[in-house]
Amino acid sequence: MAILGSKLGKILITLAVIVLLLMGGVGYTAWYYLKREVPVVYDSPEEHFKYGSINSGGLPYWIWVVLPSLFPEHLPGPGGYTSVGYIWEPGKENPVGISKSTIGFEKQGVTCAMCHSATYRKSPEDTPTLVLGAPAQKFDTQANIRFLSACGKDPRFTADYILPAIEEKHHLSWIEKQLYSRLLIPQTQKALMGLGQGFAWMNSRPDAGPGRIPSFNPVKFLNFGLPLDDTIDNVDDPPLWNEKQHKGFAYHWDGLETNITEVAIMGALAAGTKPDNVPLEDLRRVEDFIREVQPPAYPFEVNQELVAKGKPIFENNCATCHAFGGDRTGTVIPVEEVGTDRHRIDMWTQAAVDKYEELGDGYEWDFTHVQKTDGYVAVSLDGIWLRAPYLHNGSVPYLTDLLEVPENRTPVFYRSYDVYNPEKVGFVSEGPEAAKEGFKYDTAAEANSNQGHLYGTTLPTEDKQALVEYLKTL
Ligand code: HEC
Ligand code: HEC
Repeated sequence: MAILGSKLGKILITLAVIVLLLMGGVGYTAWYYLKREVPVVYDSPEEHFKYGSINSGGLPYWIWVVLPSLFPEHLPGPGGYTSVGYIWEPGKENPVGISKSTIGFEKQGVTCAMCHSATYRKSPEDTPTLVLGAPAQKFDTQANIRFLSACGKDPRFTADYILPAIEEKHHLSWIEKQLYSRLLIPQTQKALMGLGQGFAWMNSRPDAGPGRIPSFNPVKFLNFGLPLDDTIDNVDDPPLWNEKQHKGFAYHWDGLETNITEVAIMGALAAGTKPDNVPLEDLRRVEDFIREVQPPAYPFEVNQELVAKGKPIFENNCATCHAFGGDRTGTVIPVEEVGTDRHRIDMWTQAAVDKYEELGDGYEWDFTHVQKTDGYVAVSLDGIWLRAPYLHNGSVPYLTDLLEVPENRTPVFYRSYDVYNPEKVGFVSEGPEAAKEGFKYDTAAEANSNQGHLYGTTLPTEDKQALVEYLKTL
């Protein structure tokens, strides 16, 4: 112990202190740039729904920001991220459906609003009206995935190409530059290449196009590691309004879940949230919001006389399956009975149910209401005017079409144009403008069939008109 009091001892102690300080410094720096969490809280439920993080992971924010200007040729058209269908509110830093949060470095993430918000215009000159909770009709998940994975595969995805573009937008300190060039840019490239490989199965099936996504195959193949199969699961994004009145309904098009809290957790996990990082409180806020938020009223005039005539027609032909309180509303109607395309049902398997049931083991949350069904849910029709195109696969562009036999429904149309057609009740889905902006939907393609749901198709023309007028008011 004598050495401690000696000169050598003092030097050794000083050195040890310096090493410890340095280690502490390195530890602190690593924590600061990789793990430090800076909470972003949106007090307003609407802002939280649009921009609040659900811990979905995502890319380093500044890399995500500069990709469209660096790799515009990989986007479907001009306009940066709006070309894959993001809605961008004037003056906002990010599009609806994107969060920005800091976990060490700034990260971009996905929010529920990405697929559950839409715009409409009453005429081509109209300013778009944003409606939260509406089924997205422009956002194209596949185009977004294809853009990001093409960037990852591009040989120019290097620090030399990307850093200067970031620095034009945002000052990076020396340490941050090191972090980006040595860690974040190479890791992001790897992740984006992995994204392309993970979703390669998508390319051998018909495209979903805007407003639709491959629904649970990504979960089956990527989250659960179940073997690839050849099922097609392209579905329309559904609305999230007025959920308090949907209590007791089965959720998802085929009713594979019956508990809304579990559905919200499913949404987050599908959006990229890791099981050990599910933000229950943030999701509860989303759930509270979608319980209350109401669909907007039909924005054109309605003929009240016709509405009054249409109400009993609805009650006699539709209410058992579609009115609140109807005997079968919110329940699964066997596919043989409703007769619509069955691909979506065949995608969902008992093996996937079992995987969900195991997933929550050891966590505060759990899945105990997942099921395999053989039909589609008869949903309530609140806000139905804004939910076009109709049916689970979005195969019928107008309400007036749905009341015609399948042979007389529009066989080929364009999805994503947000100008409304009050005559046919749905978005303008034909003509040069719709064709220019839209995605060509061919009902002859596999899983795109517009067959079935023959209810109301044999009504006299005047009754159909009155019924449609009534449906506008729901
Ligand atoms: C990438 C797009 C996307 C994102 C992001 C997303 N959803 Fe969904 N959501 C869908 C689609 C598509 C369905 C229907 C899937 C099916 O049945 O095949 C759905 C279904 C639902 C349903 C059931 C609706 C009903 O009436 O049956 C709820 C509730 C829901 N999502 C809530 C959420 C919440 C909450 C989040 C965020 C935590 C979220 N979603 C994130 C696309 C998305
Ligand atoms: C026996 C039950 C039943 C009856 C009766 C019924 N429907 Fe449906 N309806 C369904 C089912 C099930 C679906 C979902 C089918 C699918 O998506 O493949 C559906 C879907 C719909 C949709 C599309 C919803 C959306 O979000 O895309 C509309 C609109 C609709 N029905 C209107 C009507 C009208 C109007 C009547 C009366 C003339 C009617 N239905 C009668 C069971 C029924």
